[in-house]
Amino acid sequence: MSSEMDVLTSAFTTIDLPLADRREGKVRISFALDGDRRLFVTTDRLSAFDRVIAGVPCKGQVLNELAAWWFEQTADVVANHVLDVPDPNLLVARSTTPLPVEVVVRGHITGVTSTSLWRQYADGARTIYGYHFPERLRKNSALPKPLVTPTTKPPAGSSAHDEPLTWAEVVERGLVGRDRWERVTTAAIEVFRRGQEVAAAAGLILADTKYEFGVTADDEVLLIDEVHTPDSSRFWLADSYDERLVAGEEPESLDKEVVRRALADAGFTGDGDVPKLPADVWTATTRRYVDAYERLTGRAFQPGATPVDERIADVVRRKGWM
Ligand SMILES: Nc1ncnc2c1ncn2[C@@H]1O[C@H](COP(=O)(O)OP(=O)(O)OP(=O)(O)O)[C@@H](O)[C@H]1O
Ligand SMILES: [Mg+2]
Repeated sequence: MSSEMDVLTSAFTTIDLPLADRREGKVRISFALDGDRRLFVTTDRLSAFDRVIAGVPCKGQVLNELAAWWFEQTADVVANHVLDVPDPNLLVARSTTPLPVEVVVRGHITGVTSTSLWRQYADGARTIYGYHFPERLRKNSALPKPLVTPTTKPPAGSSAHDEPLTWAEVVERGLVGRDRWERVTTAAIEVFRRGQEVAAAAGLILADTKYEFGVTADDEVLLIDEVHTPDSSRFWLADSYDERLVAGEEPESLDKEVVRRALADAGFTGDGDVPKLPADVWTATTRRYVDAYERLTGRAFQPGATPVDERIADVVRRKGWM
């Protein structure tokens, strides 16, 4: 994986820990702990178009700490997997079996990837994810209400592409039972509305996001993985949004859409070699991720001690996990 990755000098991209059941995601590495718990290590790896593209300094810490913050902000809306955050890049969570669908919720019509609403609409589709869309929509405009647009979830670490599904197909294909799917999508819309409110108070628009849900050994459904991070979501600056929409310009965004667009402009859509992007794309990406963290939480971002892998190994030893 690292050989094809554009690794920046100070990025934390992998770790070797002598713990059981190592699972390698594109961004996170996880291990089993006792008592039905998993340890999640969030690295600085950035994925786009279902591929690992680069290591971006501080990104892992921003994701881990911002997700932990959002899990707290939404705990009254939906139960989640968080048990402890023992280090800026570590999460101890309840072990679950993830549902085999990614629960994407969209408040706006946007995107450049093949599963995005705008890509499909611009290519002429008017029925997308089972919903009907009128003529003459503008890219990035708000939808009348948030829509659930599920996709398949390829196994962790796989570079298979997500496939769009309709709400009904999730049930028809036996991916999730009807009652459970009903509850999951209702919860997803509620968490999304909470996210929109909290983001609005911070001067941001939460344009869309992706949730994952998992089932515990005692059949409890939990919100897992991450919530409302710049990896899983699009955040736009509210101040300049209207003016730019009318002018047909892209919103100012605090997420990885700039990386996706740079890759798409270089002709990359997920297959073949990853094009090399200029260094300023990556410094700007760190800046955007930190900016999103600071605006949302109202806290100053404090980078953890380096090297990150040694710091994490210390925590794991102190906890008696190895
Ligand atoms: N509580 C949990 N129990 C079991 N698995 C979980 C839990 N929380 C998250 N996961 C899984 O751990 C993996 C996290 O890895 P990562 O975030 O790198 O995801 P990925 O799907 O490989 O990449 P990307 O997020 O870029 O699509 C995901 O497969 C996710 O479903
Ligand atoms: Mg993920």
